[in-house]
Amino acid sequence: MTYLKNVWYMAGWSDELGEQLLPRRMFDQPIVLYRKADGTVAALADRCPHRFAPLSLGTRMGDSLQCGYHGLTFDGTGQCVHNPFSDKIPTAAKVQGWATAERYDIIWLWGGNPENADQALIPDFSMIAISSTVKAVHGYTLIEAPYEFATDNLMDLSHIEFVHKGSFAGAGVIFAGTHQVTEEGNSLRSNWWMPGVKAPSHTAGVYPPDLICDHWLDMRWDAPASMHLEIGATPAGSPRDEGLIVQQCHIVTPASDTTAHYFWASTRTHDLDSAELDGFLRLLFGQAFDEEDKPMIKAAFENLEGQDFWEAKPLSLGIDAGGTRARRKLQAMLKTEPS
Ligand code: FES
Ligand SMILES: [Fe+2]
Repeated sequence: MTYLKNVWYMAGWSDELGEQLLPRRMFDQPIVLYRKADGTVAALADRCPHRFAPLSLGTRMGDSLQCGYHGLTFDGTGQCVHNPFSDKIPTAAKVQGWATAERYDIIWLWGGNPENADQALIPDFSMIAISSTVKAVHGYTLIEAPYEFATDNLMDLSHIEFVHKGSFAGAGVIFAGTHQVTEEGNSLRSNWWMPGVKAPSHTAGVYPPDLICDHWLDMRWDAPASMHLEIGATPAGSPRDEGLIVQQCHIVTPASDTTAHYFWASTRTHDLDSAELDGFLRLLFGQAFDEEDKPMIKAAFENLEGQDFWEAKPLSLGIDAGGTRARRKLQAMLKTEPS
């Protein structure tokens, strides 16, 4: 499979990376991440050029990384800086290094030439960053399907009514709504608008369950699979900014051709200090993403039995337009991408 290079991929949560080495397969390449003394993150190919040992089995030497097999040492750019057997460092003694950035409690990795890494291209996730007024819980799961299958799932939230009967399903509110997919520059939007419905589940404990609300689910997509979801509800007819809004990120990074890292976060602006609510939300999202979405995405992919998605001629229902547009956009971006 070919992956886009000139985009920012989510490599992990900021709090996943302390002193230790973090191996993480991304776009089908083994990568090792570590935090340098100045707090910035180094990302190197996790394969020594000598006898191919994973550098993640090696040892930190300050900001450099010593291979655990025969001791070649590489700096944070991937250049070999020490050869224990000679003063000479062979020209080929280097590994690929990637540019990284850290923003919104997320470690981002630029898939292409580090010289072209432009932090202005990181999609905006400021709405999920923790602050004095915003609390977030976040999590991770490995999807056992190519990453576009997770995008299909997220850009088509009609599945909530069927897949999420045990968690989010809202007694048919999706069917009371209208759905629109639009394109803005390089971003796509897949938005649901559900006026005049009973208070949706994210308002539980704040709105009375019988309160008639206007409810929305607004999803924004940026390549390769960085999605922001705004879940909102307001007493029917009231302005949106008076409503109860939950901001979420759903960011998918291809791991291999058949697996993908799924990072999610969900914010709240009430009961910030409630450990009980944190626990409840982790349980709810764990059930929804790990036990409901993940097995369905895996089963659908496996059911293709190796056949290409497009060659299998997927039926279009309209509601799936967001995922389809994202797949098409990735194909178009790959065609025009500078090497
Ligand atoms: S495999 Fe790394 S130094 Fe030999
Ligand atoms: Fe889902």
